[in-house]
Amino acid sequence: MGYLEEAEELFDYTQALRRDFHLHPELGFKEVRTAGIVARELRELGLEVTTGVADTGVMALLEGSSPGPVVMLRFDMDALPIQEQTGAEYASVHPGVMHACGHDGHTAIGLAAARLLVAHRQELAGTVKLVFQPAEEGLGGAERMIAEGVLEQPRPDYCLGVHVWNDQPVGWLGIAPGPVMAAGEIFQVRVKGQGGHGAIPHLAVDPVVASAHIITALQSIVSRNVSPLHTAVVSVTTMKAGDAFNVIPSEVTFSGTIRTFLPETRDLVLQRFHEVITGVANSLGCEAEVDVQKLTPAVINDTQITACVQRVAADLLPGDTISQDCATMGSEDMAYFMREIPGCFIFVGSRNEEEGLDAAHHHPRFDFDERALPRAAALVAASAAGFLNAYGDL
Ligand code: NI
Repeated sequence: MGYLEEAEELFDYTQALRRDFHLHPELGFKEVRTAGIVARELRELGLEVTTGVADTGVMALLEGSSPGPVVMLRFDMDALPIQEQTGAEYASVHPGVMHACGHDGHTAIGLAAARLLVAHRQELAGTVKLVFQPAEEGLGGAERMIAEGVLEQPRPDYCLGVHVWNDQPVGWLGIAPGPVMAAGEIFQVRVKGQGGHGAIPHLAVDPVVASAHIITALQSIVSRNVSPLHTAVVSVTTMKAGDAFNVIPSEVTFSGTIRTFLPETRDLVLQRFHEVITGVANSLGCEAEVDVQKLTPAVINDTQITACVQRVAADLLPGDTISQDCATMGSEDMAYFMREIPGCFIFVGSRNEEEGLDAAHHHPRFDFDERALPRAAALVAASAAGFLNAYGDL
């Protein structure tokens, strides 16, 4: 049997795990129950398991029958602080916490892939390093795992990550070389003026008017500074001004996010971001404090590894559409692993409109078509096996 047929045979196992994780979602670095199940399942397969990496991360090594390269498979486990509204029978039992990005699926896919690879151990020349990561959602799980040595002993030669993808239906695969997810920054801006009476504005310095001009002017960075052939986003998403209708406040704060693919675009946007804010604020008599924090680098797929995964996918799922130029302005901390280890981040279509499984990621009604589970598990396992034997032209 091939990987796909075997993954289909594991469907009940994979679905049961996914639904169990979905029922019991856990926020970043609190995936205690989830990590316990992961470790138990991996130990049952006879793997050498390390727990407690970055608090709740789990790592396991699967040795093939002969020596060879090391391929790392990474799966994220954390949920989001969202109140679930799916009405599913397996809906979250934890108020305000929900698997709204599909990481429940990723964890189950990882455990299914581990089973598939153990069954094919005799054919593997090399080592599979299975990494179950906590806290992908902006809390720094990947960076902490790296700091705690997950990329050493043994150091992976290649890495793979996977995301179920509700933007596209089941039967679609996104396996594209180059940047596929954006570099993200979080910014906080404080615009300081001088408070006063709302009816006597000439004796105040109004930071509300200044902020309005700044936010409008920031939109000129993407439209007037970044090349029309390159990609960037500047979004102001929160704003806090005064508390009373007749008081000009002394300061305004706003925050948001910047997304880019290319490092040179990122540098340009950040430079203009500071210049526009300071310049507009000063011209209106205000002062501005700008704080920009890095969220993640861009996820950049290695050309050769991506080509290998594309060949595996075309063999494994010949009826599927393989997009070779998909990308999203979302960000992913898989980028930190892929900055050190060449790899490929794969998107597996999981939308099903007829069944209402089509809400966007991070939406309270997010749910996906579970037919994506065996497809993703088979693709990840077969790609790993590909690196360690048949598709050995890497
Ligand atoms: Ni996600």
